[in-house]
Amino acid sequence: MRVLLVCLGNICRSPTAEAALHEAAEQARLDLEIDSAGTGDWHVGDPPDERMRAAAAAVGLTLSGTARQIAAEDFDRFDLVLVMDRANYADVCALAPDEESKAKVALFRSFDPDADGEDVPDPYYGGDEGFPRVVEIVRAGARGVVAHLQSLEEEQESRPRS
Ligand code: 4NP
Repeated sequence: MRVLLVCLGNICRSPTAEAALHEAAEQARLDLEIDSAGTGDWHVGDPPDERMRAAAAAVGLTLSGTARQIAAEDFDRFDLVLVMDRANYADVCALAPDEESKAKVALFRSFDPDADGEDVPDPYYGGDEGFPRVVEIVRAGARGVVAHLQSLEEEQESRPRS
């Protein structure tokens, strides 16, 4: 299973979701290929935001990689494209080349049964308290995504082979 995580800048939320999904998949022994991208191009080539890295490091998550912009080819490479908020959802769907691609797009938090909202709030222009909040939200979201993928796997295993 290949999962792409998408936010606006690819320097705050999606790199953190990427690290959290690695953590959750490892704990569940689920084999996932994970990457992240942004809908915008302002930060292409930049490392994750320093404030975001500090908040992630406080719970043992290391953010890595440099920002890149999502491209139409990503719909061929990935099975699932999980977006951080509804604006990302609209932007990513507009980029999807066909209906099959569009069907791969979902809100990241939609897999968290305890989520108190649909969006992972954008911390970039907010106060410092926004960053630990993102970490908390994406860790819970990542556990939900892993649970969803595990149930898909179990479903496939129980299906008679044709
Ligand atoms: P992200 O946060 O989408 O979580 O990476 C942002 C980073 C940069 C900008 C906006 C959001 N920006 O406008 O530059």
